[in-house]
Amino acid sequence: VINFEDKLLVHKNSNPIIIGKNSDEFIISSDNNIIQELCDEFVVLDDDDFCLIDSELSFSYLNKVLKKTLKKNVNIKEIKTTTFMESEILEQKNLKNIFFDENLKNIYELVNKIKNCNKKIILSAAGTSFHACLFFHYKLLEYGILSQVILASEFENYLDIIDDDFLIIVFSQSGETGDLIRPLKILSQNCVEIVSVLNNRNSSIEYLSKSCVFLNCGEEISVASTKAFGFQIFIIEVISDLLKYNSLKKISKRINFISDNFEVEVDKIFKKVDEIIFNYDIDKVFFIGRNSLFPIALEGALKLKEVSYMHSEGFAGGELKHGSLALVDTKTLVFCLDNNSDILSNAIEIKTRGGIIIGLGTIQSTEFDDFIKTDDLIFMIIALQIIGLKYSLSLGLSPDKPRNLAKSVTVR
Ligand code: G6P
Repeated sequence: VINFEDKLLVHKNSNPIIIGKNSDEFIISSDNNIIQELCDEFVVLDDDDFCLIDSELSFSYLNKVLKKTLKKNVNIKEIKTTTFMESEILEQKNLKNIFFDENLKNIYELVNKIKNCNKKIILSAAGTSFHACLFFHYKLLEYGILSQVILASEFENYLDIIDDDFLIIVFSQSGETGDLIRPLKILSQNCVEIVSVLNNRNSSIEYLSKSCVFLNCGEEISVASTKAFGFQIFIIEVISDLLKYNSLKKISKRINFISDNFEVEVDKIFKKVDEIIFNYDIDKVFFIGRNSLFPIALEGALKLKEVSYMHSEGFAGGELKHGSLALVDTKTLVFCLDNNSDILSNAIEIKTRGGIIIGLGTIQSTEFDDFIKTDDLIFMIIALQIIGLKYSLSLGLSPDKPRNLAKSVTVR
């Protein structure tokens, strides 16, 4: 933005710019949530658009006219707690919001695309959203579809082999992750079909996509993503049920179960996590899961390291024996997701080397030193998020603003 003969000249180059107007001011911002609250009219700039604003508060575009109605983000009633991270964890009660507005139609469209797809499917995202992609990959396998999951920061290496024979599905809470935007710009110029699963409306990735599904979980403020992950996983569960049963019956029951039992279940998890974190003298934490719980284990580890700076790693249970088992000693705490015989055999390998095993899931096991009961995957995810939150707070840290990290990363 530059001052130019009493006028403001605004130019957009890669990072998002939205200009809002109300009766007595213009607001120029990269964050459409602010503009939504304060303005009645908006314009979303595309790359290389110029806009001139004069002191009479009139504005004109120097190249094309771009008036777009700003689509509203969903407002979720805020729950007052001392940290945004905690209130956002609790806001996962509102899962039915994924059906808000026209989103069910968007979800059906994506399901039909997948059903009738004779294209190769690529899934891509960064950070927490990448773990959602990996979870989607396992769910598509259950339906007999093999997809390729690519880290957003590695996506550019694949561009030469991607043509219109591919369907690209990306996940992003913010819709502004630079590592995704760069390859998507090239792919959209080459007319490759892009479908995105986003939370923030009017984002750069929305405008690069042919169609979108929205999380509708409300604005996420805490740097470490929590509710967006719960909503991403749940949207994938909806898609997967529609692919398998062509019905929303099962998933609606689950939504009711989660929302009816939410306070009681989450309260129990909070108490149990409080007990556990002061019980053991540890210096590293592992999370293990198999199949679709592998990405959930990765996310548990990411959450903990992001907000507590503790050394934590997530593993596919079966992979431990190929190297990482060497790290296990009596100061290793391992969260074991589920208790099927395969993951239990991995837990036993850790236990015999002195590690402490905490089970998460529906059923206790004699191999567990402690157990957090979680009767739905969403409660398991919430338990992992609470583990991160509680460790962070117990170390006197601020979970909302972890050192060295940013909510939306637009740089390479
Ligand atoms: C940053 C944030 C992470 C987030 C990742 C991807 O690294 O700190 O919490 O998971 O970006 O963000 P996105 O908005 O694309 O989901």
